[in-house]
Amino acid sequence: MGKIKNKLKSIGKRVIIDFYRFLDNSGVLKIYEKILEEAIDKDNLPKHVAIIMDGNRRAAEIYGKDRYYGHYLGAEKVREVLRWARDLGINVVTLYAFSTENFRRPKEEVDKLMELFEKKFYEIADDEEIHRYEVRVRAIGRINLLPKNVQKAIKYAEERTKNYNKFFVNIAIAYGGQQEIIDAVKKIAEKVKRGEIEPEDIDKELIDKHLYTANLPFPNPDLIIRTSGEERISNFLIWQSSYSELYFCDIYWPLFRRVDFLRAVRDYQRRQRRFGK
Ligand code: IPE
Ligand code: IPE
Ligand code: MG
Repeated sequence: MGKIKNKLKSIGKRVIIDFYRFLDNSGVLKIYEKILEEAIDKDNLPKHVAIIMDGNRRAAEIYGKDRYYGHYLGAEKVREVLRWARDLGINVVTLYAFSTENFRRPKEEVDKLMELFEKKFYEIADDEEIHRYEVRVRAIGRINLLPKNVQKAIKYAEERTKNYNKFFVNIAIAYGGQQEIIDAVKKIAEKVKRGEIEPEDIDKELIDKHLYTANLPFPNPDLIIRTSGEERISNFLIWQSSYSELYFCDIYWPLFRRVDFLRAVRDYQRRQRRFGK
């Protein structure tokens, strides 16, 4: 019985995918994109958009493929989304690619993801558009927990783009928000121990300065998008998101479309941000 139910579920999802594809081909989405673009106020864009790219494995399931295919499609999506953000005029994008908790996944899956990350960092570093638009690429997280070959690829991408400052792309990898705060607290405690600062000097600004996001022009995301229908933060930028607008959408990350992105921005603009005022 369970098997039949699952089969029906998967057929149902396939129908949705086919419908999306039909929409794509029919040009309806292009018209919708235009409408959304018109509706977006270019003077009131979120300066920093962060995305929790979730749903790779569930997307693969729809296609009847293994989880690695889902991760592959998810990684392919990144280039497109960066282009949409850049074209709109959003200067800082942070993408959640791999959490500290994701190390708990089966070794084979983690290994495959690491292979993918290595390849993608080299690809990004050599991407013609990254250089044409002067995009600074950085990885944030406990980079030392990653395999050496991935660390090397990250270094390569960071080195090649270190003089750019028009756009900023941060890849959160081996990243955990709680771990980031722990790391900041340790650095601050060391300074106290060395007598460089007093405990009384510890304030919000000092903590900000010790986070991985310290050197960004806009460290706190104005808008956080999470795909796949899950509505939680999953240890992402927990300090920096204290006043972020949150946008959740049901679509799985590999299927994320430009209309979904534009809708998130339009939705953001419809909200009234208060910051406690
Ligand atoms: C997000 O997709 C990618 C990573 C966390 C590495 P998932 O792999 O979490 O896919 P789902 O959410 O299980 O579908
Ligand atoms: C969050 O997704 C991490 C990334 C997207 C990299 P997860 O799939 O790991 O999060 P949970 O387990 O659903 O909270
Ligand atoms: Mg997930």
